[in-house]
Amino acid sequence: MKLKQYLQEQGKKIDDALSYYLPTATSAPGEIHEAMRYSCLGGGKRLRAILAMESCRAVGGQADSVLGYACALEMIHAYSLIHDDLPCMDDDDFRRGKPTNHKVYGEAMAVLAGDALLTHAFKLIAELSLEPKLIVSLIREIATACGSQGLIGGQVVDLLSEGQSIDRDALNYIHHNKTGKLFLAALRGGALIGNASEQQLALITEYGENFGLAFQITDDILDIVGDTKKLGKEVGSDARQQKSTYPSVYGLEKAEAMASECIALCLEVTKGLPHQVWVLDELARFILQRDH
Ligand code: IPE
Ligand code: IPE
Ligand code: MG
Ligand code: MG
Ligand code: MG
Repeated sequence: MKLKQYLQEQGKKIDDALSYYLPTATSAPGEIHEAMRYSCLGGGKRLRAILAMESCRAVGGQADSVLGYACALEMIHAYSLIHDDLPCMDDDDFRRGKPTNHKVYGEAMAVLAGDALLTHAFKLIAELSLEPKLIVSLIREIATACGSQGLIGGQVVDLLSEGQSIDRDALNYIHHNKTGKLFLAALRGGALIGNASEQQLALITEYGENFGLAFQITDDILDIVGDTKKLGKEVGSDARQQKSTYPSVYGLEKAEAMASECIALCLEVTKGLPHQVWVLDELARFILQRDH
């Protein structure tokens, strides 16, 4: 089966589950639930959710048992995008081909919708029908990935580095934390649900570190050479905000080569995983060719 068709099928399954797990727009207070659903549903590649399910499959687990965790990841991802787009952050007006959350619901509601999505994700995980010990491990994975020593830490240094000339370690820190860690939580969480061995978890972690870095490098590249319509978000945002990015520090060509190196490592790693890995392989290749 082709990756595109597979992603569409999985994406539909994830969208349906997300719609089920999110509070309905008619439940009070309707304004916040509408804002949460606006940014969570009807768009997005669902990469984090799909990676979680595929890493479970790769270690021999049942991918469907990851669906709830996968939805929690997408809620957290949506929250991070709502806040990332705010005027006090990247100040972007378009996301997933439509106006950003604060453009529709106002800044205060956008902040609250993000807060509520993050909180709802933890409620969802706490209520999953999985072993209590496993649930605690999943909560730990996500909380570690998204706190001030993870996603938030990356966003902080990303903001502090606007207009600065930063060294390569600092750039690596930003990408690894603001983007890489949520991918890691997705892949590691899926593997934990699939009852991965220590050795398999180490391989999945190595895949995730390289995937995450390659993903953010190509995001930075697409912000320069991409097409607004295909991306569903406006290009040139990084230059406007004088962001420190891989192409701005290393140049486009070197940045592309670095992303390729990361993906080559991903493809090496999956050789050590015992079950279905074609989607992990194809997704890694997709990162280099993607236009959205
Ligand atoms: C965008 O992520 C934010 C970054 C971490 C660069 P995606 O490109 O995965 O966004 P969606 O979910 O497909 O919209
Ligand atoms: C966003 O990085 C990372 C998070 C939301 C945590 P970017 O700022 O590069 O993402 P886009 O380009 O707005 O999607
Ligand atoms: Mg940003
Ligand atoms: Mg941004
Ligand atoms: Mg970007």
